[in-house]
Amino acid sequence: MTENEKILKQQDEYSEMLRDILFMRAGNKQPVGYVRTYGCQQNVADSERIKGMLEKMGCSLTENAEEADIIIFNTCAVREHAEDRVFGNVGALKALKKKKPSLLIGLCGCMMEQKHIADRIYNSFPYVGLVFGTHAIHRFPELVYNAVTSGKRLIERGTDDGAVYEGIPIHRDGSFKGWLPIMYGCDNFCTYCIVPYVRGRERSRCPEAVLEEAGSMVQAGFKDITLLGQNVNSYGKGLDEETNFAALLRRVSEIDGDFWLRFMTSHPKDCSRELIDLMAESPKICNHLHLPFQSGSSNILKRMNRRYTREKYLEIAEYAKKKIPDLSITSDVIVGFPGETEEEFQETLSLIREVEFTSLFTFIYSPRVGTPAAKMEDPNSHEVKAARMAELLKTQETIAAKRCAGMVGKTYRVLVEEQAREGVLNARTQNNIVVEIKEPAELIGTFQNVEITEARNWILRGKLSEGKN
Ligand code: SAH
Ligand code: SF4
Ligand code: F3S
Repeated sequence: MTENEKILKQQDEYSEMLRDILFMRAGNKQPVGYVRTYGCQQNVADSERIKGMLEKMGCSLTENAEEADIIIFNTCAVREHAEDRVFGNVGALKALKKKKPSLLIGLCGCMMEQKHIADRIYNSFPYVGLVFGTHAIHRFPELVYNAVTSGKRLIERGTDDGAVYEGIPIHRDGSFKGWLPIMYGCDNFCTYCIVPYVRGRERSRCPEAVLEEAGSMVQAGFKDITLLGQNVNSYGKGLDEETNFAALLRRVSEIDGDFWLRFMTSHPKDCSRELIDLMAESPKICNHLHLPFQSGSSNILKRMNRRYTREKYLEIAEYAKKKIPDLSITSDVIVGFPGETEEEFQETLSLIREVEFTSLFTFIYSPRVGTPAAKMEDPNSHEVKAARMAELLKTQETIAAKRCAGMVGKTYRVLVEEQAREGVLNARTQNNIVVEIKEPAELIGTFQNVEITEARNWILRGKLSEGKN
């Protein structure tokens, strides 16, 4: 047995011991766990593991914090706004703890890997009993055990041991759309970004573990699987086996079954032509490329330490669009990076017009303690940044509306995902465009063919069409 297997086996033993302890703490009934997730899909995937471990401890899971005996907030540190939401929502838990003194409140995730934040939480919220960072997640049962048996408050930030822990139990939130982490951490150190500091060094799961998990998801009926990593294109570094992301993606796509395969995030500096060629040739790999550009100015990109130029980005985007005619490119963009000039901002707008993104995740720059950009001069006022953001959104809306109008009358295969509102369902095309259909909820989780009947700005409506789906 390896050292890591031993650690996980110990965790099972803690979970076993916790079954009785938590049962009694809950007043001789099955204890209830509640997990709230902030941030990116990486955190969603981590929360699915925390939920899996809670179940191992004998807990049922709830969506209602008021019913819970254990509350866990899995936090995000990427922007100040994300952190403020956590602080606000933790404040609101005070009343619940007062009503139920045995309630265990735990905070984990990226925010907790920053010492100043973990300390602030510990000092400002005395009813928080457990604080742990991203490097300690696999020891969650042990931490809960220590917190409830010692009766003391516990802070465990963990250390980045560079290891990948396989075999943690998972409770998946969905039954047909799921996330599959293929790597953890990030080594890129973009100058604005906190992720490398809170998630540690980049490490890849071995291909066998990924293939096994993907296979079991397909077996369980998953129809839409997204491979996750901060920079999936650098997958494989440091593994014994010589491999890369395109090779892994190909192997996953060769699993038998009718499912769609997605991946995110791609870093433009590492996005290979081999990967794009594979997307073009494989019917299971969705024609959707999430390729964050962050800024259209090579000067800003340099100061962001992104290690590509505007020209290089446009070259990849053009190659991909040519190879894959119905490709959707989506992206992340930051407005108001320290010292961004009007001219540099206009370069961002012109890049948006040139690439014609399907959709954009747009962010106003938020300084993060400990990152190089937080020390850069930033003469622009918030008003200037907000005005630039408004202009950017308008530019993107025009592009999205044009694309949507061009889809009317065509038929697409979609996966029906969720109820949008009474009588209306949201369905998604393989290239990541949402279509509303008026159909009963029974269709959720199935593939259908839909003809687009109407485009209102960037909202599409459609109806089921005949034929094989
Ligand atoms: N690994 C991914 C992104 C992870 S964070 C990548 O490299 O693209 C998600 C997005 O948040 C980033 O793409 C960036 O656009 C944004 N972001 C990160 N740090 C930020 C900050 N300090 N201020 C504003 N936006 C930020
Ligand atoms: Fe952050 Fe850059 Fe790493 Fe993405 S690649 S997580 S933006 S440091
Ligand atoms: Fe946030 Fe951590 Fe993801 S900082 S964006 S939850 S990796």
